[in-house]
Amino acid sequence: MSKKGFRLSSLSHKYVMAAAGAFLMLFLISHLTTNLLLLAGDGGEKFDQAVEFLLTNPVIKIVEYVLFAGFIIHIILGVIIELHNRKSRPVGYKVALKSDTSAFSRFMIHSGIIIFIFLLIHLYNFFFVKLGLFPVYGGAESSHDFFPMVVVTLQNPVYAIIYIVSFVFLGFHLKHAFQSAFQSFGLNHDKYMPAIKVVGTIYAVVIAVGFSIIPLYFLFLYK
Ligand code: HEM
Repeated sequence: MSKKGFRLSSLSHKYVMAAAGAFLMLFLISHLTTNLLLLAGDGGEKFDQAVEFLLTNPVIKIVEYVLFAGFIIHIILGVIIELHNRKSRPVGYKVALKSDTSAFSRFMIHSGIIIFIFLLIHLYNFFFVKLGLFPVYGGAESSHDFFPMVVVTLQNPVYAIIYIVSFVFLGFHLKHAFQSAFQSFGLNHDKYMPAIKVVGTIYAVVIAVGFSIIPLYFLFLYK
């Protein structure tokens, strides 16, 4: 393939990856909103209602397929772009580290791997139970009765710590991902970039702190 051809295809990789990433960022807002209902102090009633709505809504079923496709596309392209960047780096990795790219952008692949491992653990905790691949636990009455399963999982300090540490890395990943998506779409006008960076930082902090409050609540406050 010609040099120009490769540059074009790696640009389109970046574009598709940013689109998938943007969709995942919207999913996180919706998932956080539902999960914060866990803190309502009503024994999971509102949370169960929200989950039941999501599980029985045919539109959400389609969104779920898109979501998993989004994750897979985003992960595969992330690895391809990282491998390509490593190969085409004209200098040793250590020298490249001293360039002016921020720590957030340099470590996207590392934070991405941590989030991927978290996702495998997380799907094992809940999603695979929903599919019937694993038995229900925590006294749950059905594979859709998530509240007792969330309580048992997040009252376990090992899981609570794994979740919170993962959310910190998720925050770092999102901080860079947010502005990077704008750049990939060519919307990185000098005038708006500072505002985009601020919004990205706020988004990342809200997601990381918002999700972390949930294991902290079950670990220390829930009786
Ligand atoms: C304390 C924080 C979290 C809690 C309590 C939680 C809880 C749950 C529960 C109960 C489910 C099963 C319900 C269902 O499948 O619809 C689920 C599914 C899922 N979660 Fe989480 N989650 C948390 C954080 C996250 C984060 C940070 C991510 C992504 C990085 C994530 C990604 C997913 C995915 C991809 C699914 C399957 C989606 C689906 O079935 O539509 N979760 N989560």
